[in-house]
Amino acid sequence: MTPTTSTIQLTDLSTPESKNSITARFANDVKKGLTQQQKQLSSRYFYDGEGSRLFQKIMQLPEYYLTRSEHEVFTTHQQTIAEQLAAKGNFHLIDLGAGDATKTKIILKQLLQQQADFDYVPVDISGDAMTELCEHLQAELPALQAHAVVGDYFDALEWLDTNKPGRKVLLFLGSNIGNFNPDERSAFLQKVRSHMQPGDMLLIGMDQCKAPETILKAYDDAAGVTADFNLNLLHRINRELGGNFETDQFRHFALYDPQIGVMKSFLISQQDQNVTIKATEQTFHFHAWEAIHTESSYKFTLQQAETIGNEAGFNIQHIFQDKNCYFADVLYVVT
Ligand code: TRP
Repeated sequence: MTPTTSTIQLTDLSTPESKNSITARFANDVKKGLTQQQKQLSSRYFYDGEGSRLFQKIMQLPEYYLTRSEHEVFTTHQQTIAEQLAAKGNFHLIDLGAGDATKTKIILKQLLQQQADFDYVPVDISGDAMTELCEHLQAELPALQAHAVVGDYFDALEWLDTNKPGRKVLLFLGSNIGNFNPDERSAFLQKVRSHMQPGDMLLIGMDQCKAPETILKAYDDAAGVTADFNLNLLHRINRELGGNFETDQFRHFALYDPQIGVMKSFLISQQDQNVTIKATEQTFHFHAWEAIHTESSYKFTLQQAETIGNEAGFNIQHIFQDKNCYFADVLYVVT
């Protein structure tokens, strides 16, 4: 544990992993994904330096309403959100996947203004992001008590159970919940619930079902930034695993299924071709128009938000929405 100041601390729970073993895992996941009947690549590999830069650009796109909508939810309802989180007395505000905490800062300011009795616990797998966030928090919100944790969400929750007992208010913002498939989602929520007690709360950002065209455009923008973001996965394999993907022989394809409420992103092979990846010591064949699935982004109705919560042991206390009802931040309490 390296305390940075008296009020802002940082604990790193991550096990240092060598560059070699990170590359070996990446190679192994790629090999597994590309040898399946229906090829796939894991969305966890989108965010290298270039991918993170492209995702920042996606969030600025006129078509990508998600980030702006959730920002509007927080700006519009900050007072009520802060009041409800603080209503049951002192608490730890635990931000799973905090990143740069742009949206959370709106609530932090409100909570400080309302003189709520709390401390802020941002959790993120990126040590760089948490170090940077601590510096910013110290400069921007000097009155804040914060303790950043670097590591896996559940390692962090376990650490909190022993080291920081007390009421928990968990944040899971963005539309991260939408990137789980239904089985992963319910496993995630049940595991989260197992670290919670009556009186604890969970605020989850959920992208809403809406006109299919609106959703589709958010994942297939006119400027082609999303296409570049998706194709960066192949560039990354070339860079880090010695692949020889001819990236202009693949293209981005996005599809929305309005019955399931899922946005799917693919990379499509435009011709019959072979690709060799040195780190996997293997050549992969792609037939013309074969697809690689790269990400699913589930969208939710308010009814689903209720059912999903109930199944994991939560009741809805309040739903906060933007004026278009594009995005919801759903406040759950433990039943
Ligand atoms: N996970 C984000 C989302 O579902 C990221 C994202 C935006 C994304 N556009 C994408 C992932 C296109 C894959 C392809 O909204």
